[in-house]
Amino acid sequence: MVVAADFNITRVERSKLNEMSLENIPFGKYFTDHMLEVDFEDGEWKMVEIKPYQPLLLSPSVAALHYGQAIFEGMKAYKNQKGEALIFRPLDNLNRFNISAKRMQMPLVPEEIFMDGLRELIKLDKNWIPQKEDHALYIRPFMFSSDEMIGVRPSDKYKFMIILSPTGPYYIAPMRIYVEEKYVRAVPGGVGFVKNAGNYGAAMYATAEAKKQGYDQVLWTDAYEHKYVQECGTMNVFFIIGDIAVTPDLDSGTILAGVTRETTITLLREMGLSVEERPLHIDEIVEAYKNGKLYEIFGTGTAATISMIKELRYKDFVMHFNVDNWNYAPTIKKQMSAIKEGKIADVYNWMYKV
Ligand code: COI
Repeated sequence: MVVAADFNITRVERSKLNEMSLENIPFGKYFTDHMLEVDFEDGEWKMVEIKPYQPLLLSPSVAALHYGQAIFEGMKAYKNQKGEALIFRPLDNLNRFNISAKRMQMPLVPEEIFMDGLRELIKLDKNWIPQKEDHALYIRPFMFSSDEMIGVRPSDKYKFMIILSPTGPYYIAPMRIYVEEKYVRAVPGGVGFVKNAGNYGAAMYATAEAKKQGYDQVLWTDAYEHKYVQECGTMNVFFIIGDIAVTPDLDSGTILAGVTRETTITLLREMGLSVEERPLHIDEIVEAYKNGKLYEIFGTGTAATISMIKELRYKDFVMHFNVDNWNYAPTIKKQMSAIKEGKIADVYNWMYKV
């Protein structure tokens, strides 16, 4: 078993924070002073290294670059009013990380490495946690196959790493979304329910096509009929229809079990709304809009938190929303931030103190 004392920790001599400010930082562009790196070889995890953030030296034959055995997670750390560092629901992300690892035929990462490593790393880089509204320290654990060998087979060697990025909001303004009917994100039996790198790479072409038409993201539909909505860009998606919140269910294995999705379901129910996780047909959405019953649409995700959708285009039919009058999405967003920043009670024990 790996314990924190087994970690090999090398600190930077001088923090890069001396040269930069945490004001108005874009998503994912800056990285903290340290990173975690550990190799899996000969069937076991080796010594965990926490060391200055630096480039990796990799052979061009490294398997992940060729066949995409690569998975990742996204989490966020915050500071409460006492200045303590807290991570939002990290055990849920660990659990999902290992679901991804299993599906991609990769080794599981033990809790001791993931959680103790995370704690040690955040302790070192605690000063990088921004305290501004809508800002956080984004945590990016990832793993890739590191065999230097281009035969197509699961690797014998893997590298697990964690890097940290102080970050501002992912989507700044309410979004315009295009309902995608040609390209697909995921198919039943595929890998849509896990966080493998290829899911995101494969989405880029369709997203770029939608952007050419002035849209921020696509609303993915199912692979067979292009009728049942799936995810929105890199987020799960919610529709407030009448007095019910509807979000696509996870049963077909094409949708990521978002931690923010699950949090949103809990908070919506707390607000007295019924939440239905079920297949949702695009015709139901259009009909609800025409009947004046489609009140809100929003995406949920770790990076994006809650992102309101102000326009949804299906074929030539465009649905417009006045997000200024919305109730649920802004309330949930505020409530989630207040829990994360320790401003209201964390009754569900979502916050993990470092
Ligand atoms: C997240 O919300 O953490 C994601 O993984 C989405 C994106 C930044 C890839």
